Amino acid sequence: MRTSPRSPVGRWRWLGWLTTAALLQAEDAGKPPPVFAACHVCHEPAGNNKLGPNLAGIFGRKAGTVPGFRYSRAMARAKIVWEEKSLDEFLADPQRLVPGNIMPYPGLADERQRKALIEYLKTLDPPEAAR
Ligand code: HEC
Repeated sequence: MRTSPRSPVGRWRWLGWLTTAALLQAEDAGKPPPVFAACHVCHEPAGNNKLGPNLAGIFGRKAGTVPGFRYSRAMARAKIVWEEKSLDEFLADPQRLVPGNIMPYPGLADERQRKALIEYLKTLDPPEAAR
């Protein structure tokens, strides 16, 4: 019988690396990227509304629909669902996508940071009541 050119030990080591990589990724998921600190001043990822509406379940939700938050007319009337493209456009230049909205934030030019933010926003579960 011929022995396999790849030793079983080598294969296991590979699996070990894969598992470690997967675990590291899982740990990263759900953590806010550093840039979220700027948003956190006005937005809670879950719970109360602050100066801005809470962001629980933001991904896939219609704009301007958090109960109890007083939106601008512009945001309340915006016919937008928050997903990759709309969030990316909004975060890049809030006034361009929703003219007249009252979010006091000039926009985030860095595409990579916007993407990191959106990945994070995706992980925010909707509040109990809305599930
Ligand atoms: C200085 C306060 C402030 C900061 C900073 C801020 N926001 Fe806002 N945000 C608001 C306000 C106020 C609104 C509601 C705007 C309106 O009604 O016109 C809003 C609205 C939003 C909405 C729409 C919410 C909905 O329910 O439709 C999203 C999404 C959002 N902000 C994300 C962000 C993210 C991500 C950041 C960080 C890059 C950020 N905001 C930074 C105050 C802020």
